[in-house]
Amino acid sequence: MNEAIVYLNGAFVPLAEARIPVLDRGFIFGDGVYEVVPVYAGRPFRLTQHLQRLARSLAAIGIDNPFDEAGWRGLIGDLVDRHTWPNQFVYLQVTRGVARRDHAFPKGITPTVFAMSSEFTIPPAAQREQGVSAITAPDERWLHCDIKSVSLLGNVLAKQSAVEAGAAECLMFRDGMLTEGSSSNIWVVRGGRVLGAPVNHLVLEGIRVGLLGELCERCGLDYELRRIPREEVLAADELMLTSATREILPITRLDGAPVGSGRPGPVYQRLIEAYQAATREA
Ligand code: PDD
Repeated sequence: MNEAIVYLNGAFVPLAEARIPVLDRGFIFGDGVYEVVPVYAGRPFRLTQHLQRLARSLAAIGIDNPFDEAGWRGLIGDLVDRHTWPNQFVYLQVTRGVARRDHAFPKGITPTVFAMSSEFTIPPAAQREQGVSAITAPDERWLHCDIKSVSLLGNVLAKQSAVEAGAAECLMFRDGMLTEGSSSNIWVVRGGRVLGAPVNHLVLEGIRVGLLGELCERCGLDYELRRIPREEVLAADELMLTSATREILPITRLDGAPVGSGRPGPVYQRLIEAYQAATREA
């Protein structure tokens, strides 16, 4: 059995033995940030970009980064090597630390640093061949969705509404414009062009956002990030979602209606092949 060993505040311990104090501000206030890094054949994919985003999230909420890039790389390499799954995803979380409950930042506390790795099951062929269904809902989250915060209640409630509707994702709209999925970025294909929402405070800049731009270039596809009204999403030829754990998946039903032909489309086919090639090259 590949028993999960996790990293907590300087030590590697079995998952079942890892403990944090109840006054940890991550528990009390959701005062922390996180990352999810996919690992293919033992090698973290796009790690530099994930670590840069982690540094941005930490800076945005005023927590000192506990490690430099080399430090994080060493920790993650060590964690991955302790498990035999070829494909893993590494979860990193840093909270402000433990202190008496008071909203304002306490002085002189040490951030809590947690890292764990899980087996990464690549989305099954059936999902890629049939696509997944999604629903739509208003985006009711706060205005700093660019910070990869562990305060995920808005995302949790949106994902739950999808699950209760038998769907895999919830596409969110703010003021009639597409933002993102509850745990993914969303892509609209119209007339062969790949469209995504602008990168700003209303969405998380997924590591796959930049990557999809590179893959579109390789495939000779037009790629544009711009405001996308709901009507354009409903009229899409193809819809796709991207995330570290779901790679690229076609969305073939939206609110119960077929998207385009109702089958994964040609743009999806090209991009998933390019994505898989990129994970092998890395
Ligand atoms: N979430 N938008 C949101 C709200 C997300 O939670 C995620 C990923 C993404 C895609 O980002 P990336 O391409 O870097 O995975 C976009 C991770 C996988 C999670 O919370 O588990």
